[in-house]
Amino acid sequence: MPDDNLVDFQDRVSDPELEPSEPALHLYRQLVKLADWRIRKNGELRLPDHDLTKFNVAVITGAASGIGLASAKRFAAAGIKVCLADLDDDKLAAAANQIAASAPNGEEQVLAVATDVSKFEDLKRLEDVVLAHFGIVDIVMNNAGIQPGSAIFDRENWQRVIDVNLWGVINGCQAFVPGMIERGKPGMIINTGSKQGITSPPGDPAYNISKAGVKTFTEALQHELRSTINCQISAHLLIPGFVFTPLNANGRTQKPEGAWTPEQNADFMYESLQRGDFYILCPDNDVPRSLDEKRILWAAQDIIENREPLSRWHPDYSERFEAFVADE
Ligand SMILES: NC(=O)c1ccc[n+]([C@@H]2O[C@H](COP(=O)([O-])OP(=O)(O)OC[C@H]3O[C@@H](n4cnc5c(N)ncnc54)[C@H](O)[C@@H]3O)[C@@H](O)[C@H]2O)c1
Repeated sequence: MPDDNLVDFQDRVSDPELEPSEPALHLYRQLVKLADWRIRKNGELRLPDHDLTKFNVAVITGAASGIGLASAKRFAAAGIKVCLADLDDDKLAAAANQIAASAPNGEEQVLAVATDVSKFEDLKRLEDVVLAHFGIVDIVMNNAGIQPGSAIFDRENWQRVIDVNLWGVINGCQAFVPGMIERGKPGMIINTGSKQGITSPPGDPAYNISKAGVKTFTEALQHELRSTINCQISAHLLIPGFVFTPLNANGRTQKPEGAWTPEQNADFMYESLQRGDFYILCPDNDVPRSLDEKRILWAAQDIIENREPLSRWHPDYSERFEAFVADE
């Protein structure tokens, strides 16, 4: 709906001369009331702004390392209490100590709970522990992930990748979101996807499928949340670029030029959440947003143009793809 129409309509509904019983107008007023918190100046459907400093408690999975740890630190720096969930090993305790050392309220602000996200019962137990300890959950970041590699006809790793990367996200949402809706408070869910779940580069099909599932699940979740009356929870899809973490270090100890640090990624995510972005499409030092946009558009056009799938990686299309990228 164009913004001018909305303003015009709002003037009209507050006009005392107007017949309030006019059915269409009445219905329209109800709709505006419902939709009001989502409609921005440009008339697009957008998530509400979130002042993250108003949130008290965040739960982050995969929080002992990389993007999860940096995100937990970012939330903690804003005064948010954080619950770190990760597999049961020393990394989790070390991460909790690290955050406690720099958080404004020290160790009071941090809780660490050993959790395997591939097990729904672990996520339910996590919810119980966090509610008992902090009393509320405002933010859930389903971020735990693995990338051991996969090949299309080799069954190795498939089950594990989908259990952790996709079921981990579904389990986290199904464990936490119904209670968050019921408590009636504002909140947010952040699910960590990947560009590989959108453009599907050849080489690691199990990972791509798990992340494509995370994208589809999170979109469906957001539709469900915005269609639920009185629900103040929003969902967000975090799409990191190349971030240097143990997931992709492959023995490297120095950050490659093209990669972002986990902290850069966490800052970008934090700002995007404050803006109310659903798709948090992160750049890195090699790939600006404009190039990501071209890659995403090209992938979608494989269907529209009735081309081969993944045509971007076929030699017949390499020149055309380069020209497409170069075309302003
Ligand atoms: N690093 C990148 O370039 C990049 C790019 C796109 C997406 N991602 C995604 O970001 C997320 C975080 O990855 P990262 O790069 O920080 O990697 P990381 O290896 O540093 O962190 C992942 C964490 O998840 C934990 N984990 C693994 N299996 C788990 C399980 N079953 N239950 C609970 N915790 C588990 C690990 O112990 C680890 O601490 C992942 O979902 C990954 O797919 C990363």
